[in-house]
Amino acid sequence: MSKRMLMMSVAAGVAMYGSAAMAGDPAAGRAVFMSSCSICHSVQAGQNKIGPSLFGVVGRKTGSEPGYNYSPANKQANLTWDNATLDKYLTSPRAVVPGTKMTYGGLKDDTKRANLIAYLDTLK
Ligand code: HEC
Repeated sequence: MSKRMLMMSVAAGVAMYGSAAMAGDPAAGRAVFMSSCSICHSVQAGQNKIGPSLFGVVGRKTGSEPGYNYSPANKQANLTWDNATLDKYLTSPRAVVPGTKMTYGGLKDDTKRANLIAYLDTLK
């Protein structure tokens, strides 16, 4: 195989892996949720714990879970929790919602984050 061919197949492999990671694996994401989020968040509709219920979170506006006492920062962030916003937020919550009372440092692993968001997207 020529060096150029080798480079091209490596690039194709990376691109394929990249899109698979972006799509995310909800089953793997559920495990991430159980270990990293479930201590503060329920996935049952209307069940608020330390944090608001995350049922239906994908597509909803910041600070809109009924009966949950949000910080002013989260309440007034005026964002929609779509995949891209969740991706940034879960990498570094304080970077996206400065002043949030969510004391979670962030999930830096891209694959785990994509899996987690794929799982959140099933909660509806
Ligand atoms: C230590 C407790 C804690 C952990 C762990 C935690 N959260 Fe939170 N989360 C909160 C609190 C408290 C809020 C409300 C923040 C506010 O009002 O400022 C929140 C808010 C949120 C919001 C905004 C919801 C809305 O309705 O606007 C999302 C999304 C979220 N958390 C997702 C997650 C995910 C996903 C994880 C796991 C990676 C996680 N959180 C881990 C406590 C936590």
